[in-house]
Amino acid sequence: MALQSILLLLVVLVIGTVQGYVAYDFLPVYRGRRYLISRNAEPFDLAKMNGRCRGSGGHLLKIDDYSEYRNLAYELSRMRDQSAIYTGITDLGIEGHFYNYNDKTPAGHLKWRRRQPDNWKGNENCVDISVWGFNDTNCGGNGRYMCEIPA
Ligand SMILES: *[C@@H]1O[C@H](CO)[C@@H](O)[C@H](O)[C@H]1NC(C)=O
Repeated sequence: MALQSILLLLVVLVIGTVQGYVAYDFLPVYRGRRYLISRNAEPFDLAKMNGRCRGSGGHLLKIDDYSEYRNLAYELSRMRDQSAIYTGITDLGIEGHFYNYNDKTPAGHLKWRRRQPDNWKGNENCVDISVWGFNDTNCGGNGRYMCEIPA
């Protein structure tokens, strides 16, 4: 390969790496699942963030059952930053019908926070998770998000 081609390749690789770089915190593997939480809050976008999770071999978080939620709540309770984290659960389409964005399967067990979901101002079609449970929230807010990846 000519030196110029090699240099060009290097430049492309470096730029791609820098642009695609997202820092994650890792939770312990649970029942064959690995969980990644983005470290920095940024404007959320279901398609974009799910695409990033897919790039890591997974998808935005979905909850299969109560024990998965209990484990996550426990792990989140041990983290310093306890602000809510975006999941891949949404009711975009039919209000109140919550499903997993990645594969369109119905959302499993949702332990809602008190008086949630309330679709506040008719504008809350995404779902976040915190130690206190789930809350419906605006899909375009600023926040962290969680990926789930088969371990
Ligand atoms: C739910 O989320 C909204 C913002 O989307 C927030 O204003 C509200 O305080 C949250 N409620 C609970 C119980 O966490």
